[in-house]
Amino acid sequence: MTQPLRLGIAGLGTVGVGVVQIVRRQAALLSARTGRDITISAVTARSKSKDRGVPLSDYAWEDDAVAVASRDDVDIFVELIGGEDGPAKDACEAALARGKHVVTANKAMLAVHGQALAAQAEAAGCSLRYEAAVAGGIPVIKSLLEGLAGNEITRVIGVMNGSCNYILTRMESTGLTYEDIFAEADGLGYLEADPQLDVGGIDAAHKLAILSSIAFGTQVDFDGIELEGIERVSIEDIRHADDMGYKIKLLGVAQLTGRGLEQRMMPCLVPASSPLGQLQGGTNMVVLEGDAVEQIVLRGPGAGQGPTASAVLADICDIARGSNLPVFGQPAESLKSVKPAPSVTPAPYYLRVSLHDKPGALAKVASVLGDAGVSIDRMRQYGHDAPIAPVLIVTHKCTRADLDTAIDAMDRTGVLAAAPIALRIENV
Ligand code: HSE
Repeated sequence: MTQPLRLGIAGLGTVGVGVVQIVRRQAALLSARTGRDITISAVTARSKSKDRGVPLSDYAWEDDAVAVASRDDVDIFVELIGGEDGPAKDACEAALARGKHVVTANKAMLAVHGQALAAQAEAAGCSLRYEAAVAGGIPVIKSLLEGLAGNEITRVIGVMNGSCNYILTRMESTGLTYEDIFAEADGLGYLEADPQLDVGGIDAAHKLAILSSIAFGTQVDFDGIELEGIERVSIEDIRHADDMGYKIKLLGVAQLTGRGLEQRMMPCLVPASSPLGQLQGGTNMVVLEGDAVEQIVLRGPGAGQGPTASAVLADICDIARGSNLPVFGQPAESLKSVKPAPSVTPAPYYLRVSLHDKPGALAKVASVLGDAGVSIDRMRQYGHDAPIAPVLIVTHKCTRADLDTAIDAMDRTGVLAAAPIALRIENV
């Protein structure tokens, strides 16, 4: 048996405690699987006195994360503090500077500083692993880095924020408004301390930026993501989309096109019968498409103590076994810098227009769509709450630019009672 692999853990929240529990409970199994005992040397968190329901007295206590990362008896620094800057980043840099491996669940830090951290880790010959940063317990990083290494990845699609999926599916099942279900989710503790990270799509966009880098060999580009949260998704659109055979999801999509890297995180319609359409509650799903494998669908818990700690342990076990892959699947210095290409790929769109119910109104809408080169696939007019008539249109594939041209022209016709709602349809 070789030397034990010694952990230093910073952050003893839900995930940190979950990691301590697994290391203690599964010591024999981890040792058998990796050929090394995995032990904990030191920990740190905000409060030393808090009872976390797990014995910590066997481990040295440090008052700050950099101190844990700098200890001679730590081989892997496990960063579970969170936040894109501050102590988390300082401590990861300190660990790498001392030649220690880093395992982190910190999607924000990687989405913003991933390129620099990867370069530092690789120059130091250290591993920087982050399975827990994306989609909790789903081994999506490993799938891209290893399982699909022989594929040219063509598209990455996913529901990667459980809180948003919970809100959208609860709105659908209860018929209640976004505000009602947001309050319910907040009361149940389902939202981040800053809920905007969830409902604004930021948390999910951090995850998409990381996946894009591995999938396409590009530098992590969080700022290049076209981003829109779920705050403006209405119960009317959820109902109408359902009636047309679709569900609304906060969907991340990334693909490398001839015109640049297309990355978006926004509410989209997906076919109700598709695996994504059927995804309920806080569960995550990531769909990976490659030239050889075609398509795989990964589904599982995207958050929570056990699932996220499970992902952290996967990284620790890989390091214990001697694996040291480039952070984003190829050397950081070889990752391409590609310009963002927002919504360049044509798609069908769902368009809800509220018309003044007068002769010729619908004809004007159809006419401006035609003039902009947008073809109508399906159309339905609902209710007869004169004087306003809601009309739903599903277009054939068109560009967002052409659709926006049509919407601008529609506005000038004087037939609209409210601004149209346009949502992209992803046929997955
Ligand atoms: N708030 C996140 C979610 C947790 O709901 O998916 C993991 O990032």
